Amino acid sequence: MKNFRRSYYNAFSRFYDKFVALHSVDTQGALRRFFSDKVPVKEGDFVLDICTGTGSVLLFLREKIGPKGLVVGVDFSRGMLKVGQEKNKMYVNISLVESDVTYLPFKPNEFDAVTCTHAFYELKGETQDRVLKEIVRVLKAGKPFIMMEHDVPKSALIRVLFYIRLFSMGAKRAFYILKHETRTLKGYFRVVKKIPTPTGRSKIMICRN
Ligand SMILES: C[S@@+](CC[C@H](N)C(=O)[O-])C[C@H]1O[C@@H](n2cnc3c(N)ncnc32)[C@H](O)[C@@H]1O
Repeated sequence: MKNFRRSYYNAFSRFYDKFVALHSVDTQGALRRFFSDKVPVKEGDFVLDICTGTGSVLLFLREKIGPKGLVVGVDFSRGMLKVGQEKNKMYVNISLVESDVTYLPFKPNEFDAVTCTHAFYELKGETQDRVLKEIVRVLKAGKPFIMMEHDVPKSALIRVLFYIRLFSMGAKRAFYILKHETRTLKGYFRVVKKIPTPTGRSKIMICRN
């Protein structure tokens, strides 16, 4: 199943950026800029972006951590990472790593922030739990996990697509996440705060211990 998902993302990688720009009306990267502004990091910090895809958010995060910091993007799709490599290759403070996020190939307490944009709902229920454990392990004490996800869309057609995506993680988990997302995150983090985004289509969850 995982190999199927990986092949799907590899095929999707060729037109993924164009699809996102259309879907989120985000041609200028305004939403990613807004997200990155909410990530509380400073010059010299280490940031990990899980399920980074083509690494679009890395371009914004790298500006915040400067030349002495490092932003690491992890993804299991070689296709997505190849597109990301092309986009990010001129920056020394960006690194891309091929890995399944259920095992993060890093030492404990290594990162000043972990981020994840529009990917968490695509992970299966048990995968989400394993990933959350891994995020807690690699974060330095008190440092945040910041996640951006689609909120329930107002338009009926987009809402159907949203539910299809959500239910691809399994019906039980989908219902649970819809009702108890904050509670799920609170299983791993002491403080969970929800922030709306200017588009009204996505939400940001800031979690820390
Ligand atoms: C919808 S894309 C989001 C990409 C990016 N974060 C963005 O905002 O554009 C989901 C990404 O998650 C990755 N992914 C899904 N399951 C994964 C897993 N178990 N390990 C690593 N990456 C995974 C896919 O390869 C894909 O690139």
